[in-house]
Amino acid sequence: MKYTITGATGHLGRKVVEQMSRLVDVREIRLAVHTPSKAQNFLDQGYEVVKSDYYDVDSMTKAFADTDVLIYIPSITYDVANRVLEFENALKAMQKAGVKNLVDVSFIADQPNNPFQMAGYYAYLPARLAGTKLNYAVVKNSLYADPLVPYLPELIERKNIIYPVGDQAMSFITRNDSAEAIANIAFKPYLRDHRQVYLLTQKQNYNMVELSRIMTEATSQEIGYAPVSLQKFADIYRAEGDGDELASMYHAAAMGLMNAVTDDFQHITGHEPMPMDQFLQQNYQR
Ligand SMILES: NC(=O)c1ccc[n+]([C@@H]2O[C@H](COP(=O)([O-])OP(=O)(O)OC[C@H]3O[C@@H](n4cnc5c(N)ncnc54)[C@H](OP(=O)(O)O)[C@@H]3O)[C@@H](O)[C@H]2O)c1
Repeated sequence: MKYTITGATGHLGRKVVEQMSRLVDVREIRLAVHTPSKAQNFLDQGYEVVKSDYYDVDSMTKAFADTDVLIYIPSITYDVANRVLEFENALKAMQKAGVKNLVDVSFIADQPNNPFQMAGYYAYLPARLAGTKLNYAVVKNSLYADPLVPYLPELIERKNIIYPVGDQAMSFITRNDSAEAIANIAFKPYLRDHRQVYLLTQKQNYNMVELSRIMTEATSQEIGYAPVSLQKFADIYRAEGDGDELASMYHAAAMGLMNAVTDDFQHITGHEPMPMDQFLQQNYQR
């Protein structure tokens, strides 16, 4: 079998490679990467690395040759039209290369009334795939827990979480757990043989009162909850390049559109996902 992983040098991609390697021999894994120099460590470990650009169908067609299962991890572009174009190009390449099985990584924010700027892409995916001849599973991630760890020093300084989500809860999953589920779905045909759609979450969601309590315990620093307005939130993080995009996502959360919880992770892997308190306690360095 040949499993080809796109976006393999990214935050999630690296973990998917790691998890896939627990299930199959390294020779069965091909990494289709945008920037081969970022994959030197994988080359050193004996992985096959091929260049592949979502804007170059020919490069993807070559990269996808002989692939039994493709794991498509999208880029992080915040432009819906480009994200769709990247996926359309990948679909063309899959067809040309004769790829029949796809594990497609998606996101919780896919409802038709979701104001997150990228929701249009996530809403389009399952309907677009339904019109193809592919066997596929769509794997929706909830919010990654991981970025909360480097965010903690700022929250300690602010003494508060400031997410503009009111009393609403949000669902999370660690990237490691997401990758484990994705690798299992790719490896086990019965998990992707009837166009399954999964949502990966921890066992419970957290409102900001609960999250601030967990953060206080993990850091031994008092962190409360003082939500700012959506506009203020966008203004604070605009300099980092994605303030408006993030604000649109928390707008969705404030509408109760980011709080769904499932037991999909446990059904896929046979064990419970890592809860937030354990994750923050294990990863926060005092
Ligand atoms: N659930 C959440 O909370 C959450 C949070 C953040 C992001 N996400 C989504 O999860 C996905 C993966 O996130 P991540 O954190 O792993 O992102 P990441 O670290 O930026 O990884 C993205 C990967 O896509 C590759 N890529 C970018 N442009 C490409 C192109 N034109 N052709 C081929 N490959 C290209 C990148 O390679 P180069 O670096 O070489 O360009 C990189 O390997 C993204 O779609 C992102 O939107 C979800």
